[in-house]
Amino acid sequence: MSLKALPKVELHVHIEGAAPAAFVCGLAREKNLDISRIFTANGGYQYRDFWQFLDVYEAATSAIQTPEDYHRLTLAVLEESAAQGVIYTEMFLSPDFCGGRDVTAWRDYLHAIREAADLAEKTHGIVLRGIVTAIRHFGPDKARETALCAAETADDWLVGFGLAGDEKMGRPRDFAYAFDMAREARLRLTAHAGEWGGPHSVREALRDLRVERIGHGVRAIEDPALVDELAATGVVLEVCPGSNIALGVFPGWAAHPVARLRARGVKVTLSTDDPPFFHTTLSGEYHRLADTFGWDEADFTEINTVAARAAFCDEQTRAQILTRLEAPDA
Ligand code: ADE
Ligand code: ZN
Repeated sequence: MSLKALPKVELHVHIEGAAPAAFVCGLAREKNLDISRIFTANGGYQYRDFWQFLDVYEAATSAIQTPEDYHRLTLAVLEESAAQGVIYTEMFLSPDFCGGRDVTAWRDYLHAIREAADLAEKTHGIVLRGIVTAIRHFGPDKARETALCAAETADDWLVGFGLAGDEKMGRPRDFAYAFDMAREARLRLTAHAGEWGGPHSVREALRDLRVERIGHGVRAIEDPALVDELAATGVVLEVCPGSNIALGVFPGWAAHPVARLRARGVKVTLSTDDPPFFHTTLSGEYHRLADTFGWDEADFTEINTVAARAAFCDEQTRAQILTRLEAPDA
C-alpha cells in the first residue's frame, strides 16, 4: 500500500490554519477585504517567523466570518484530508474567531461545522471531532470565556479543550481556571508547549493544566529527565515535524527529535498543524519521515495506533478507527 493510501489518524490541526490560501483569498474578495499583504505572488501565505505567522493567521481568519464560511471550510479541509488517507481528525476550533466567545453565536458556528463533518463522513468516510482552543496571547480572561463556550457545548462530538497561540506569553498556571472549567465539563485536555518554550514549559503545562496530551512537546528532548518522565507516564505528544521545520524550531528534518523521542519510549503521534501555511500534507510528512529516518508502513501503523488510543473520542468510535487501521483494505 502507498503511504498516501495508508489510513491515518491526525490529532492536531487548526481549522483556520488548514484553510488553503486560495480559499481565504476567495472569501476576502467576496467580502471586499484587502488582505493581499499576507499572500505571496504565487498564491501561498507569506510570513518571516512564528510571530508574523500568528499575525498572518489572524488576518486570514478575518476573511472566514460566518457559520456558512466555516461550513465550506470544514468540507474543503476534510475532503483534502480524506484524499491524504486520513480516517479520523481532531480539529482545534476557536470561539474567539467563531462568534467572539458568545455562547449563542458559538453554537451556530459549531452547528455549521458539525453539519459539514456529517456530510464529509457520509461522502468520504472521514470522522471529525472538535477540540475548543483558547488562544494564549489573548490572555486568561478570554480563555475563561472560551472555556465557558466549551463547557456549554461539551458532548460526544466536542470532546476536548486546549491552548494554542504564543507560548512566550503568560504562564500555564494563568490558564488553570479555564482548564479546571473544561475538566469539570468532562472535556479531555491538551496544550501547546515545548514548541517555543523549552522543557520547563512542558513541565508547567503538565503540572498546572493537568493535560494528558501536549501539542508539539518536542523541545522536551533538551531535558533527558523529562523525556524519561514522558515515557514513564505515557503523555502523548502531538508532533508536527513539517510545522516545526517551516517555522524554524529545528533547522531541518534530520535535526528533528521525533525519532529520538520515539526511540526513548515517548508516545509520539503525527499531525500537520496548519498544512497550507507549511506547504505540507499528512502523507507528505510521512514521505519525509520515511526518507529521513527509514520509517516504513509498520512504523506508521504503530504511530497511528498510538494516536487512535490517545484520541479523545468515545470507545465505540475508537474501536471503529482501530479496526480500520488493522485492516486497511477492508
Ligand atoms: N496556532 C496555529 N498554529 C500554531 C502553532 N504552531 N503554535 C501555536 N499556536 C498555533
Ligand atoms: Zn498547533
